[in-house]
Amino acid sequence: MKNIAILISGTGTNMQALVKKAIADKVNADFHVISDNGNAGGLAKAEQLGIKTHVLKTTVPGWKMTEENTSELLMLLKMISAEYILMAGFMRILPERVINEYRWKIINIHPALLPSFKGKDAQKQAFDYGVKISGCTVHFADTGIDTGPVIMQKPVDISACSTVDEVKSEILTAEHDIYYKAFRLLIDNNLIVKGNKVIIND
Ligand code: GRF
Repeated sequence: MKNIAILISGTGTNMQALVKKAIADKVNADFHVISDNGNAGGLAKAEQLGIKTHVLKTTVPGWKMTEENTSELLMLLKMISAEYILMAGFMRILPERVINEYRWKIINIHPALLPSFKGKDAQKQAFDYGVKISGCTVHFADTGIDTGPVIMQKPVDISACSTVDEVKSEILTAEHDIYYKAFRLLIDNNLIVKGNKVIIND
């Protein structure tokens, strides 16, 4: 049984879609949701799926994690014997201490085709720029912002979208698809990081 920690801050649809697929496929994994936000909508979704939830108590406003907040997260990860960490709309930069301890065991989903449109509001950035094709990227987390080795990407034609919300919704569907695929490759040990490239064994 593999223990998986899913870090969320918000609505948690990526978490929900991934766990539902894992349950349907009878993946041998035990999921724990950790949120830095006690009001995250994803917490109720996790509870509905019967997943244990944890809320970080030492969180301060903003996107940074303090030393105390980092220690709390690391303790929780130890407590649940987390082997892998999935960032799913977690609005914090993971400090070096966490990245180093779980090197190439942490993945993130970003709603753009990296290295384009890094950081916050990626879908709005793409919409405002006027690109016709955007998409999403699953990548390993490193100490930068949306900079780790790319595992999988899916392009999405957004040329017909007339609002940012439409862009978000088109891209979200693609996110749910590739996040689960990348997760399976990760826990089945089929991803090899060579420099900044990820080789997929399939
Ligand atoms: C997704 O668009 C994800 O790519 C980004 O934050 C959003 C989270 O959505 N990092 P949800 O909480 O999974 O619904």
